[in-house]
Amino acid sequence: MSSINLTVNLGQLQLKNPLVAASGCFGYGTEYSDVVDLSTLGAIAVKGLFLQERPGHVPPRIVETPSGMLNAIGLQGIGVRRFIDERLPALRKHRAVVIVNICGTTVDEYAELARILSDAPGVAALELNISCPNIKEGGITFGCDLRGAHDVVSAVRRATSLPVIPKLTPNVTDVASFARAAEEAGADAVSLVNTFLAMAIDVETRRPRLSNVFGGLSGPAIRPIAVRMVYECRQAVRIPIMGMGGIMTAEDVVEFLVAGADAVQVGTANFVDPFVWPKLLDGLTGYLERHGHGAVRDIVGTVAVPGAAQRISS
Ligand SMILES: Cc1cc2nc3c(=O)[nH]c(=O)nc-3n(C[C@H](O)[C@H](O)[C@H](O)COP(=O)(O)O)c2cc1C
Repeated sequence: MSSINLTVNLGQLQLKNPLVAASGCFGYGTEYSDVVDLSTLGAIAVKGLFLQERPGHVPPRIVETPSGMLNAIGLQGIGVRRFIDERLPALRKHRAVVIVNICGTTVDEYAELARILSDAPGVAALELNISCPNIKEGGITFGCDLRGAHDVVSAVRRATSLPVIPKLTPNVTDVASFARAAEEAGADAVSLVNTFLAMAIDVETRRPRLSNVFGGLSGPAIRPIAVRMVYECRQAVRIPIMGMGGIMTAEDVVEFLVAGADAVQVGTANFVDPFVWPKLLDGLTGYLERHGHGAVRDIVGTVAVPGAAQRISS
């Protein structure tokens, strides 16, 4: 048994370790309970929920790309009431720490979801999806506008005492300014990144490969950009950061922590290897032992950047 302290704090929420299942890549958690001991994860960010059920986009909704995947699921979901009735009880039974990812088309919808979930036993935190790149209304429209992001976060802040974690989009010029807006609006932490807006074309038919034309790119292809964005946000805000984008190995986990993330989320890797979780935890523990650290938090934000805090290569 290792003596390493793996706990991390996201505001008032303490996780037993920094590994969190990323929204949309782990269902509502219950789907994975036969292959993963849900109580061993730091937390599970469940699939994005609207007030109402949604059918999502028609297929094709997923395409493999070099070192990544493109998706346009369109936030298919069972709606918040069915989630509370049908999924939360099982998640509690499995002793999972549940972060609910919420989506709305208006500020009021986000606040209403926050109120409903505040009364549901077993919800640890709310992750605000203001960054989904493949729906028409809501989502990313808030995440690409500083005022919109601020308004959503402050409305949810007023509606709940649960930890509030806005999830930022990378599809902006200056992601750090959105982290700052979230912090000013009362966020307990930020998570980043959601997927990158992208497109793939079948050259034989000359048609887009996704029914929605555009989709969100995830997986190892985006990792260096995500790491850069986490690093930039770490310089800009004091609140904790959950970093993600293409994490496949324990080394990738460490890279995000060293860049400034307090915890990480793992998404696309679940589709490649659902048994990845113990490997990530063992690898992280091994790294900390090898480098003589007693706690995960010892390595957070420890990247040694010579000279300036910000370097742009020519
Ligand atoms: C199929 C799929 C569905 C997703 N659904 C959601 C979602 O409902 N809400 C959300 O905030 N992010 C969603 N995401 C984004 C992921 O949570 C994550 O931010 C992104 O994929 C980058 O991490 P990764 O490279 O480890 O997958 C989804 C990603 C994928 C691939």
